[in-house]
Amino acid sequence: ESGTITLEVNGTAVAFARPGTVALLDLLRNDLGLNGAKYGCGLGQCGACTVLVDGVPARACILPLAVARGRRVTTLEGLASAPGLHPVQQAFVDAQAAQCGYCLNGMILTTVALLARNPSPGEAEIRRELSGNLCRCGTHVEILKAVRRAAE
Ligand code: FES
Repeated sequence: ESGTITLEVNGTAVAFARPGTVALLDLLRNDLGLNGAKYGCGLGQCGACTVLVDGVPARACILPLAVARGRRVTTLEGLASAPGLHPVQQAFVDAQAAQCGYCLNGMILTTVALLARNPSPGEAEIRRELSGNLCRCGTHVEILKAVRRAAE
């Protein structure tokens, strides 16, 4: 193996000459300076580090670089294609869904993936989808409002 692993990050091809076992989150934050994905638990349990891999939410803290090889990774920074915020980001701002804000990267990217699959999810589906994303401030009510607003 050549030792170089290529993938696409926010629409740009990126090559890493790093071991395939390195967690994608380390590379995004430390090598690429993309700090949207947060380091929370580091164990795949809180969702703070969520990125989209081929449009599906994934936990970058436990995602080995080798698994991301050749895939299309989208981080929070890659969401908005025009100047200004992505509509889901704007809905979270409008609903004032942040307290400390640490969980919002995962909440927003998970919502983006949900709405791509189902533009008008029901309450149960929204709750099920976000249930793996932990918010320790307890702003779940505002977060749910934001998701409903984004789904309108
Ligand atoms: Fe990755 Fe918690 S930091 S799931």
